[in-house]
Amino acid sequence: MDYHNKLVLAPMVRVEFCTFILTFSFAILVGTLPFRLLAAEYGADITYGEEIIDHRLVKCERRLNEILGTIDFVVKGTKEVVFRTCCAERNRVVFQMGTADAIRALSAAQIVCKDVAALDINMGCPKSFSLSGGMGAALLSKPELIHDVLLILTTLRRNLDTTITCKIRLLDSSQETVELARRIEKTGVSALAVHGRKVKDRPRDPAKWNEIADIVASLSIPVIANGDAFEYEDFERMKDATGASSVMIARGALWNASIFSAKGKLPWDTVKKEYVRKCILWDNDIKSTKYTVKEMIIHHSCLELAEGKAVNKSDTYKDLA
Ligand code: FNR
Repeated sequence: MDYHNKLVLAPMVRVEFCTFILTFSFAILVGTLPFRLLAAEYGADITYGEEIIDHRLVKCERRLNEILGTIDFVVKGTKEVVFRTCCAERNRVVFQMGTADAIRALSAAQIVCKDVAALDINMGCPKSFSLSGGMGAALLSKPELIHDVLLILTTLRRNLDTTITCKIRLLDSSQETVELARRIEKTGVSALAVHGRKVKDRPRDPAKWNEIADIVASLSIPVIANGDAFEYEDFERMKDATGASSVMIARGALWNASIFSAKGKLPWDTVKKEYVRKCILWDNDIKSTKYTVKEMIIHHSCLELAEGKAVNKSDTYKDLA
């Protein structure tokens, strides 16, 4: 994988909590196959899948879906598709994993690694489900746990013939983040994605591009800068400001995936229709499609209108279309 001058679709998953008799959580996937293909069609060079937890992946088996022409990773003995990909994206799809354990991470990675371009370990998730599982930003929060981060990355690097990368957030001080980034680089990862916010920062707080620049200046491997790129022009601005090799974008793409197009953004409702069309073609989970469509509509502030209400009510693709 080449990480220079690339426009990168960020990993995106949402975890919803449901309290009914028992409290449980379920993942609403955003960066699924139709969304990744859509972003790539508009110009994304590298497309991350949604974060998938190693515990889920180790329960899966690889199945060829001859009807759709996809490779599905399905929970054994069920029809539950945890990850779906296809040959068309083999050279640009990155599988992002949430893990807190090197051995389990390796077992999980071995299941998907032949079908993806790279494997990324998410060390930056600040959400409570990740933190409580000792994953994501929890691994970066205590010095003694950083050892586990390095062990996970080294184990994957040594045992797999696949590109391995890592995504982090900023630590409290720029000096600490630079120190961490240097130690991660020594594990042999091919690139480091940096979300320019700290764990306690809210999404509306500005991303600290200057602290990403400090990391870039200290490493030899490519850095993928992430945070607050909302227009195509921001890609160059961000590269100039940080010195990063590539730029990663999440919300800007969720709201209008044609942000990756050098020709300029298409109207968001054109993009929305194309997204739903692809979801139907690739038999995407309807809950995930509805979540993504609602995010598009909310951002363009008309959820109260009839369309938003209709999306909420729709149970089938026929309704949604
Ligand atoms: C995210 N983010 C995220 N990060 C990650 O490493 N794995 C993930 O699964 C998710 N999930 C996720 C879902 C949604 C809906 C959003 C909006 C964000 C964080 C994301 O990848 C990115 O780091 C931040 O959103 C900052 O980038 P933007 O939004 O400023 O471009």
